[in-house]
Amino acid sequence: MKLEVNGVDISFGTKEVLRDLTLRVEDGEFVSLIGPSGSGKTTLFGVIGGLKQPDAGEIRIEGRITTGERGHVAYMPQQAALLPWRSVSGNIEMALKIAGIDKGTAKAMTLEWLSRVGLAEYARAYPHVLSGGMQQRVSFLRALLSPRTLMLLDEPFGALDALTRLHMQKWLLSIWETHRKSVLLVTHSIEEALYLSDRIIVLSASPATAVDEIVVPFERPRREDLWTDPRFNELKARIYGHLQGDGKAVDDHV
Ligand SMILES: Nc1ncnc2c1ncn2[C@@H]1O[C@H](COP(=O)(O)OP(=O)(O)OP(=O)(O)O)[C@@H](O)[C@H]1O
Ligand SMILES: [Mg+2]
Repeated sequence: MKLEVNGVDISFGTKEVLRDLTLRVEDGEFVSLIGPSGSGKTTLFGVIGGLKQPDAGEIRIEGRITTGERGHVAYMPQQAALLPWRSVSGNIEMALKIAGIDKGTAKAMTLEWLSRVGLAEYARAYPHVLSGGMQQRVSFLRALLSPRTLMLLDEPFGALDALTRLHMQKWLLSIWETHRKSVLLVTHSIEEALYLSDRIIVLSASPATAVDEIVVPFERPRREDLWTDPRFNELKARIYGHLQGDGKAVDDHV
C-alpha cells in the first residue's frame, strides 16, 4: 500500500514536534526513519495510524485521505502493548482473527511462528512473565502476521541481543521479500537501516523535518557482509554526520 504524509504539523502545547513533514512510502517499499530521540518519530506513527489528529496536513493511503482513521496499518508500537489477560498465543491469535483468519489457521500459524522466534514454550504463558525482549518478539510477530500491507515498526529490535536481532532482521527481510509489504521502520541503528531499507529518511531534532534522504544502493537479497562494501561505510558516515550535528548519542550497532 502506498503511504503519503503531506505537510503534517503537530504540537503538544507550545512544543512543536513535527513541522510541515512530508514523506512517502511507495507500494512494496521498505523505508527507514532515523532521527534523534524526541524528534517526533513515534508521534508521526500515531498520526499515520490515526491515533493522533495532526494540527495541519493529511495522511493518504492508496491515494485516499485517511487522516484520523484507524485500522489501515499493522502497527508495532515502541512499547510492546500486549493484552495482559491473554496468553502469548492468545495475543497473536486474536490479532489474526480480527484480520479475518479462521480460528484453526490462526492457532497453527501462531504456534509455528512462536517456535521460529524461540518462544514455543511460552505459548500459554501470560505477557508479564516474559522479558522485555521476549515481549518485543511477540509484538513483532503480531505486526508481521497481520495481513495489512502497510507495516509501521517503531524500533522493533531495540531490546534484543545482537544475535536475536540479526535473526529477526532476516525474518523481516524474508517476509518482506515474499509478500512485498510496504514498511516504515524507526531505528536508531544506522547499520540496521542500511541492511534493511530501500530508502532512509533522516529527521532533524524537533520540530522534525527531513534533512536527508538516501536511496540505498545495495542489491537484494542483501548480503550479510554488506559492511565490507566501501559504500556502506560512506553512507554510514553521511548519516552519522547528520545525527552528530544534534549532539545526541546514536546506538551504533546492528
Ligand atoms: N502525548 C504527549 N503529550 C505531550 N508531549 C508529547 C506527547 N507525546 C510526545 N510528546 C513530546 O513530543 C516529542 C516527540 O516525542 P516522540 O515520542 O514522538 O519522539 P521519538 O522521536 O519517538 O523519540 P525516541 O527516539 O526517543 O522514541 C517529545 O518532546 C515528547 O515529549
Ligand atoms: Mg519513539
